[in-house]
Amino acid sequence: MLESTPEFLRCVRCGSKLELDAFKIKKEIEEGILECKKCKLVFPIIEKIPILWDDFSNYLSNRKILSGKIYQLGITEKMKSFLKSSLSKIVFVNDRTSLEERWSKIYQNSRHSKFYSLIKNNLESLPKSNLVLEHGCSIGIVTSFLADSNKMVFGIDKSFTALRFAKEINKNNLDYIVADSLSPIFAKLQFNLVIALNILELVEPLELLKHVSKQISSGYFVISDPYDFDRGANSVRKPLDESQLRTNLEKFGFKISTKTKNPSHIPWNLKLNPRTTLNYKVDLIIGKK
Ligand SMILES: C[S@@+](CC[C@H](N)C(=O)[O-])C[C@H]1O[C@@H](n2cnc3c(N)ncnc32)[C@H](O)[C@@H]1O
Ligand SMILES: [Zn+2]
Repeated sequence: MLESTPEFLRCVRCGSKLELDAFKIKKEIEEGILECKKCKLVFPIIEKIPILWDDFSNYLSNRKILSGKIYQLGITEKMKSFLKSSLSKIVFVNDRTSLEERWSKIYQNSRHSKFYSLIKNNLESLPKSNLVLEHGCSIGIVTSFLADSNKMVFGIDKSFTALRFAKEINKNNLDYIVADSLSPIFAKLQFNLVIALNILELVEPLELLKHVSKQISSGYFVISDPYDFDRGANSVRKPLDESQLRTNLEKFGFKISTKTKNPSHIPWNLKLNPRTTLNYKVDLIIGKK
């Protein structure tokens, strides 16, 4: 985590500033704790990645294999003892580790999909921004690109595994946070550009639009999706189709760019394994406030 990042972050529960106790600093904060003195909540920073989850033990309870790995990753005695105490409270449920590892690898193998170059071209045509946020950034393909032309860029994702890959590229204006997109980790901070690519099946769409609309008072929202909502019990409660997404963006105050007024079908090819590719057709919308 960059030394400047705590200035931007707030407690997920009460929105207060967080105090940093850095255990190990090299070029960045490698290990430490962010604490909300008001709620007595603590958020660990492990392998340079802050985990802003309301309840850290709860975060790990879905990630048994990752819990063991995280314990191994701890370097300082202080972190080891924090991890020991968090691990002792966990009741493990289903394990998302392999799923998150598998998808991180799929995104790595698919980073040359035409989808990403087309998105990058579209992002390049927007004005340069002071503050940029990507929701559900995964391994940071687009986040890292955005850092080359904007002042400060953050990526958030709930997968620690994906962000470990993202963190392999270090830039002094780029940082990543493990968090739920809908949690208020930036409180009332305003961004000039927010992007959310292909996450509507995973983050409740209307809640995401409402949340992002509060993060932008003047700026751009770039959103794409293949509308692959057919996931049974795992599906979001209220899916939106291409027309409902546009209507709702307008309701939240975004004006849709002329070139994205009509739905598009951009190929997004995900290489699942050497013999299988998942071929999505993605719709892209650029909204402006
Ligand atoms: C389908 S992938 C898309 C990744 C990337 N945006 C892209 O288009 O290449 C969805 C990503 O959203 C993340 N995600 C899912 N639910 C989330 C949530 N509630 N908050 C933050 N990230 C979430 C997943 O971990 C995953 O990395
Ligand atoms: Zn708090």
